[in-house]
Amino acid sequence: MTHQEIRKKFLDFFEKRGHKIIPSSLLVPEDKSVLFTTAGMQQFKKYYLDNDSPYGNKIASIQKCLRTVDIDEVGDESHLTFFEMLGNFSFKFPEAKDSYFKKEAIKHSYDLIVNDFGVPLRRIKISVFKGDDKNDISIDQESLEIWKSLGIPEEKIFFGEIKDNFWGPTGEEGPCGPTTEIHIDGIEVWNIVFNEYYCNKEKHLIPLQRKGVDTGMGLERLVMVLQGSKSVFETDLFSPIITELRNKNLYDYQSNQKFERIISDHLKAGVFVISDGVMPSNLGRGYILRKLIRKIMRHSKKLNLHDDFLQRSVKTIINIYKEYYPDLEKNEEKVLEVFNEEFQKFEKLLSREIPKIEKDVEEFKNKGYKFIPGAYVFNTQSSIGVGVEIVQDIAKEKGMEINMEEVKKEEEKHKKVSRVSQDKKFIKL
Ligand code: ALA
Repeated sequence: MTHQEIRKKFLDFFEKRGHKIIPSSLLVPEDKSVLFTTAGMQQFKKYYLDNDSPYGNKIASIQKCLRTVDIDEVGDESHLTFFEMLGNFSFKFPEAKDSYFKKEAIKHSYDLIVNDFGVPLRRIKISVFKGDDKNDISIDQESLEIWKSLGIPEEKIFFGEIKDNFWGPTGEEGPCGPTTEIHIDGIEVWNIVFNEYYCNKEKHLIPLQRKGVDTGMGLERLVMVLQGSKSVFETDLFSPIITELRNKNLYDYQSNQKFERIISDHLKAGVFVISDGVMPSNLGRGYILRKLIRKIMRHSKKLNLHDDFLQRSVKTIINIYKEYYPDLEKNEEKVLEVFNEEFQKFEKLLSREIPKIEKDVEEFKNKGYKFIPGAYVFNTQSSIGVGVEIVQDIAKEKGMEINMEEVKKEEEKHKKVSRVSQDKKFIKL
């Protein structure tokens, strides 16, 4: 099944069950307390409290998302920074007669995964919220019983703590609640959230009078499972990009798998972020974009990729997605311009300073240091302009760590210097 067919099947399934299909919102959300859109529910957040919505009480969408929390895991089988989230949502408006909660939400997910997508039960495990004494929330017995009634044997149902089976809020405050998750082949694929609480700015959980449903299923993971692939990178959402990187046979695939995965993930994230209007900078979203681009550059050097890989890969990414996100094609020129400019800015540092840092880190390691000294890290940041993150990456690659406490102490020591050099601290490259 292609990703196109999977998208269609998901949306058709929920449309048939009375959901209105809503297009993805931008990666830059309206909610000022978050940098990027990280979940499908974000554009619908207020409807969990409102009396009505312009779309009715049942919605389904495929939302583009960017999450940087897992950025260090990118390169394994299933973690990504940019991904799309398939979601269905139900709001219990006073006038709405057919809003749903646990029973229907779980049944829908079971029907879609087992009956429509045909995933055999033996590959499925379920997690359910075990409750939390501190917040006085009891075990989610209801979800457990629903799964059992659908034929999931009890030994396939696991109980998760608040850190794993309670979701939200996004941003400073908002709806949140216990979750039940579908895991396929050991990978979490679908998160079904029952919004039963409102978490306020003081982090108190207030029970919601009207309870809602918010689900999120990672498209890339679902595609991986349904295409029988070993990783998200071996699916039709990624293999054209990886093929493009390998196009000129410039590196050994086996030993560089992690780097080609990081490059393809970060390139994709960059294309979408720039197309949604973010420019590289030293703050906020722009800083995240800058970090992504600089990592692409650093790794692309390792793979001996020449500059033209950029243009070809960006085109390939746009081709995968243009049917769903037509703006990408319109913004192709701008995207390339931003990448190229950023590449040029970073080139000098990359060719002159990074190899030196790599050598220094190697030396610290050979000398038996456990951590890269704070003074060294501070210095690369303040006088050479190479940010902690880059030193941290290099250290990690060589199996070392940075002592952040020491770096902070160094920063304190230098706080008395003039305002100009004080500002420089933020110019992390
Ligand atoms: N909002 C939930 C998530 O992002 C579904 O996992």
